[in-house]
Amino acid sequence: MGAPQGQTDLPIPNGWFAIAWSNDLVKGGVQRARYFDREMVIFRTRAGDVHVLDAYCPHLGAHLGEGGRVKGDTIRCPFHGWHFGGDGVCTEIPYSKKPPPAKARVKSWPVLERNGFIFVWHHHREEEPTWEIPQLPEFSDPRWTEPRQFELKVPVHIQDMAENNCDPVHFSFVHGNFRGIDSEVMPSEEAHFFKALSRTTQETPLGTFETELERNTWGLGLVSVATKGIGDAGLMMLAATSPVDRTHTHSRWRFTVTEDMADHAGEDWIHAMSQGVMQDMRIWENKIHRAAPVLCEADTELAFFRKWVRQFYPDNGKRSAAARANGSEARA
Ligand code: FES
Ligand SMILES: [Fe+2]
Repeated sequence: MGAPQGQTDLPIPNGWFAIAWSNDLVKGGVQRARYFDREMVIFRTRAGDVHVLDAYCPHLGAHLGEGGRVKGDTIRCPFHGWHFGGDGVCTEIPYSKKPPPAKARVKSWPVLERNGFIFVWHHHREEEPTWEIPQLPEFSDPRWTEPRQFELKVPVHIQDMAENNCDPVHFSFVHGNFRGIDSEVMPSEEAHFFKALSRTTQETPLGTFETELERNTWGLGLVSVATKGIGDAGLMMLAATSPVDRTHTHSRWRFTVTEDMADHAGEDWIHAMSQGVMQDMRIWENKIHRAAPVLCEADTELAFFRKWVRQFYPDNGKRSAAARANGSEARA
């Protein structure tokens, strides 16, 4: 049988996904996390490096994120004190005279800390990363404000949430505030990345402007949205979105604006963006995933997105013969 109505067989995609805010994890900090339907522990060593390991200790299965302690560059299990390095290998058993058994290890996830997020690389066959998340200058430049943060959890597959960025028509109908959207997608030689530009008229506290929204997308896990055209001012939003499991998604947003803009429109803009997503919520909470949607001739961005997204799934998102035979919607 295929998935029941309203559910999806769509797998968890490959790529870089944020699993924590950087500023939540101080040196010596330990956090538990659950993404990709897996339990993980995140810790920051005394030297400042972040490591992410599978959560359950190979000894008797304690969760390293519930009472684990950072000791130098290792994490100590809360149950019997075994130590694990950032590579997941047990380095010490405090009550045993022999070296730790070779099997005493857990999976270590590839980690990148960029733009205020801690990302890990998820791949269904555990292959190594084939690309990286860039550091964006706006998030370390003193002419831009200290970023504000916002997060939400949504009961949909990550693809349904990500698809919104390639759905300019929904801005008019769901959000009602962008008129006459004129949008184009620019694929890149780097397959995991694309840029999209939308031009629109925007009302701001400083007046009405012809603005351009530049959206950069790195896999299914990261999108930047820059608003240009309001004088010299810059507004930048960075949305890092991650699969908790196949039907739940966690999105973390960071906002920054140029300092000259902060008092005038920065706060209003941040407020408007984070409130706007509540309008999407009603759609997301009640929609199903359509593996084979009926698109119209004008849905060019959506058609592009559906093809582009297949690269992040096993077998490039092709439906298995079994799935086709039973009518399952298991395709990107
Ligand atoms: S369960 Fe971790 S040391 Fe025993
Ligand atoms: Fe939206």
